[in-house]
Amino acid sequence: MSLKEKNSDSSVRKLELKNQTVFFKSAEYMSELEDESIDVVITSPPYNRGKTYSSDFGEFHNDKMVDTEYYSFLTTIWSECYRVAKSSALFFLNIGDSAGDQGKSEKVAKSAEKASWKRIQDIIWVKSFLGKGHYTPSGGNRRLNNLWEHIFLFAKNTKEYNIDSKAIGMPYTDKSNIGRYSDTDLRDPGNVWLIPYIKTTGATIKKGHEAPFPIGLPYKCIKMVPNAKTVLDPFGGTCSTLAASLKLGIRGYAYEKYPRVEVIKSRILEGEDYYESEENLIPHLELSLKLLSEMYSKMSLNIPLIKTKVAFTSFQILNEVLNKLHINNSFKLSLEKRIANYKFYVEKNNPQKSKYHQKKLNLGS
Ligand SMILES: C[S@@+](CC[C@H](N)C(=O)[O-])C[C@H]1O[C@@H](n2cnc3c(N)ncnc32)[C@H](O)[C@@H]1O
Repeated sequence: MSLKEKNSDSSVRKLELKNQTVFFKSAEYMSELEDESIDVVITSPPYNRGKTYSSDFGEFHNDKMVDTEYYSFLTTIWSECYRVAKSSALFFLNIGDSAGDQGKSEKVAKSAEKASWKRIQDIIWVKSFLGKGHYTPSGGNRRLNNLWEHIFLFAKNTKEYNIDSKAIGMPYTDKSNIGRYSDTDLRDPGNVWLIPYIKTTGATIKKGHEAPFPIGLPYKCIKMVPNAKTVLDPFGGTCSTLAASLKLGIRGYAYEKYPRVEVIKSRILEGEDYYESEENLIPHLELSLKLLSEMYSKMSLNIPLIKTKVAFTSFQILNEVLNKLHINNSFKLSLEKRIANYKFYVEKNNPQKSKYHQKKLNLGS
């Protein structure tokens, strides 16, 4: 069923950008959206820790409500999300704990259960690990920095939802598992996700909006929902969720009561250039490889001719890694040339062998 916005109140200010809509009003009454019209809800609510969420017009969210008021405010919004969600919908609720209020995340999860959402599982979002990702060192001599947050996963109806774990899958380490557990080199990535911040969030904080999550977070969530066509973020903030839905070609809706309109526009458009990068766990490996290949390029050294299948495979792996890291320099170009020369050589001298190589090394035709 396609989504029809109820165009009841033309006075509601909104932003329409590339199939993404942001309503500049409270999500307590999402009267613009019809019942059962949304496939995925993704959000990170105000944390009620005295953070700064302020609009272009100087209005700001009261992020220091008394506890009872805060949880009942959230339940009102989760109930509205429940109303607009399809029966197969999933709800990803991101919240972290801080040293001062350990256990708050659990109470926030309970506020969603109170609005009839059924809890499925907890996904751990790791923000920084082994030198990957930015965070503000704030531990001092009393505690270590908290480098992860929850993404509580809820369903509207436990009998009607599905997930597609392979859509966000990762390759097997032991390739003999291909065929044993599945036909493709993809397996369930599990419920611990490393999604580092590529740059500090300092710039958005200065512009009045704290705590945006990385685009990779909603991107992963949306991808694991089969046939998702509509996405909603009731607490849009900078609207990272809509950047992800733009990238995935999905109709996105957000609500933001205290909008910074230019910040929102540029965040949504960031989605166009977003690409999913693979994380490895060797600190600073990308930087080191980049530096090495740039030095090699400057030295104008020749890459040796490829003479064996083993060398060919290694060079292909290196080429793939550099591709993933978006490294493009003269070293990379000569690497590609050597690989192409070897393919040409094998093909010319032994068409039969070439077929074997193509199959075995997954060269394609
Ligand atoms: C934690 S931030 C969301 C950050 C967002 N995930 C991002 O990536 O930018 C929560 C947002 O909820 C907004 N907000 C507060 N009360 C609201 C309400 N009643 N309706 C809609 N948005 C509200 C705040 O202004 C703030 O921008």
